[in-house]
This record gives sequence, C-alpha cells and structure tokens, in this order.
Amino acid sequence: MSTFQLTRTLAPDAAAADLRADVLHGLTRTPKELPPKWFYDARGSELFEEITRLPEYYPTRAEREILIDRAPEIAAATGARTLVELGSGSSEKTRFLIDALLPGLAAYVPVDVSESALTGAAEALLADRPELRVHALIADFTRSVVLPETPGPRLVAFLGGTIGNLLPEERRTFLRSVREMTAPGDGFLLGTDLVKDESTLVAAYDDAAGVTAEFNKNVLAVLDRELGADAHPDDFDHVARWDREREWIEMRLRARHALTVKIPELDLMVEFEEGEELRTEVSAKFRQEGVRAELAEAGFELTRWWTDAEGRFALSLATAL
Ligand code: AVJ
Repeated sequence: MSTFQLTRTLAPDAAAADLRADVLHGLTRTPKELPPKWFYDARGSELFEEITRLPEYYPTRAEREILIDRAPEIAAATGARTLVELGSGSSEKTRFLIDALLPGLAAYVPVDVSESALTGAAEALLADRPELRVHALIADFTRSVVLPETPGPRLVAFLGGTIGNLLPEERRTFLRSVREMTAPGDGFLLGTDLVKDESTLVAAYDDAAGVTAEFNKNVLAVLDRELGADAHPDDFDHVARWDREREWIEMRLRARHALTVKIPELDLMVEFEEGEELRTEVSAKFRQEGVRAELAEAGFELTRWWTDAEGRFALSLATAL
C-alpha cells in the first residue's frame, strides 16, 4: 500500500494563464499592483526560506514556538482524523501537529500550488513516519478546493500568517470557502501575525542583509522569464511601509527613474514615472477581536487563542458551527 498520493486539481497551464491575467490587470491600472503569489518560483521559495531564518523576521519562530507548546492541546481539543493544510509549502512546522495527532490521524492532506514543494515535503515527512498517509493536492487555496474523502473530524490549518496576504474582501471569501470544506464540529487552525510597534514590523520586511529586498525584486525575474519582459532589479528600490489605518505592511517596488518595461508575451509596454511604486504585497496584522469577528462572519467560533511568550504572533483554534 502506498502512503503517498498526489492529486492535481489545477490544470498544468492554469498558473501561466493566471499570471498573464494578473500582470495585464495589475500593471495597466493606477496604482500598479501584483499579487504576492508570484514571488514563489523556485528561487523565490528559497529566498522566503532564507527570510524565515533572519533575525528580524520573527513570525516563523514565534509560530513554531506556539505549535511546539500547544500541539498536544490542539490534538486533544480536535481529535482530528484528517489534517488539511492550505498553502503547506515545506510543511516544516506542521510536523509538530502531525506528531501530536498521529495515533488517530488517518490522513494528512497538504494543499499547495507547487508540486515540487508537495513531493519534497511528503518525502521528508514519510522518511520518519512510514505509517503516515499523505494525500497531497495540487490546488490554489484562493479557489475552491475539493478535498479527498477522508475520515472526520477534520482540522484545516492555515499557518504562517499567510491570511495577511489577502485583502479584507478576499479574506471573507476565503474564510467562507474554508467553512465549506468543513462540517459542524470540525476545527480550523489559523496563524496570524499581530499588530505591534512600527519599527519591529518594518524591520521584519526590510532586513539589514537585504534578503527581503531580493525576494521582492524576484517577482521581476518571474516576469522576465515567464513573459519575456525586460524588467531589471537595479531599476527599482525595495520599499516596506506600515499603513497604520489599515494595519498592514505593504511591500512595493519603486522606480529609481522613469522607465518602460516591455512585456512581449502580453504585447504590453508598461511606463513607470520616476518614483512610481508597484505594490507587490499586503501583509495584514491582526488583533484578537478582529480575528474573532471575521471567523464568526464565516461560521466559525473562536475557541482558543494562543500567542508566543512575547505576544507577537497568534494561533487561533476555531470550531465550525
Ligand atoms: C508568507 C505571507 C506569511 O507576509 O510575512 C515575508 C511573506 N513577505 N517577507 C509575510 C513575506 C515578506 C510572508 N507570508
């Protein structure tokens, strides 16, 4: 019996079509914007892993601390027989949860757009846990995901603070779709970065070693490779700004001088004025009351709220109503 199964729910060319649509839409509007999911080609994923080890980037360490401390409580509270993880990436922190759930866990269902991330993560997990059943899903969690028929109760996990990449309206749609993946009594485990002082936040997105700047500029390399564009990283500055009204970090690329980016595959010429900024990411920060309200609106009741010792990051456990 094989313990690893991989299901593709995304057409192999879906990502290419999405990229074209996002670039056409985002670079022809004012102000210019691109969704952050295009950072993550192989190089971008590597740079993100590097970010998670930077002294300034606390979210990954803070969430790992909470997961290590609370995995037994999460396992006891949910009794989950299926663990679904949206945007699972390397599944690195999830192993604490898997190990706490394992005696009764029938299936781990990692969901990601990257096939290589899914196979790599499964390989690493199965090397030490031959009894684990992994049913990986190649899917985009911002679209509706059809889960395999595995035993309940289910626990859906969305870790890393990635929900912060969605705008408020997108979060509403996303949280409703998560509720649709669950039955009453199922669990939802959500990682959220928290509102804190501006200097800590800005440093986390503008590190001294310049890794985040390189990560931000990597989206230009994706445009060049995938769409034949001629964008050059040296023509742009990395910008990380805290929006105190909306309580989110924005990353932008600011044109150092007036320039034109040619995108032959889209038959497009994109003009930048000197100093013009392209928004590449929103990373929203949260408070308990906001998380509770957004979950409630989607049909979940917040039942547990844990933070790291320094109160920088939160893990919420909610129950589907
Ligand atoms: C992976 C979306 C959680 O928003 O903090 C890291 C991505 N961007 N540094 C975040 C990111 C810049 C990260 N998430």
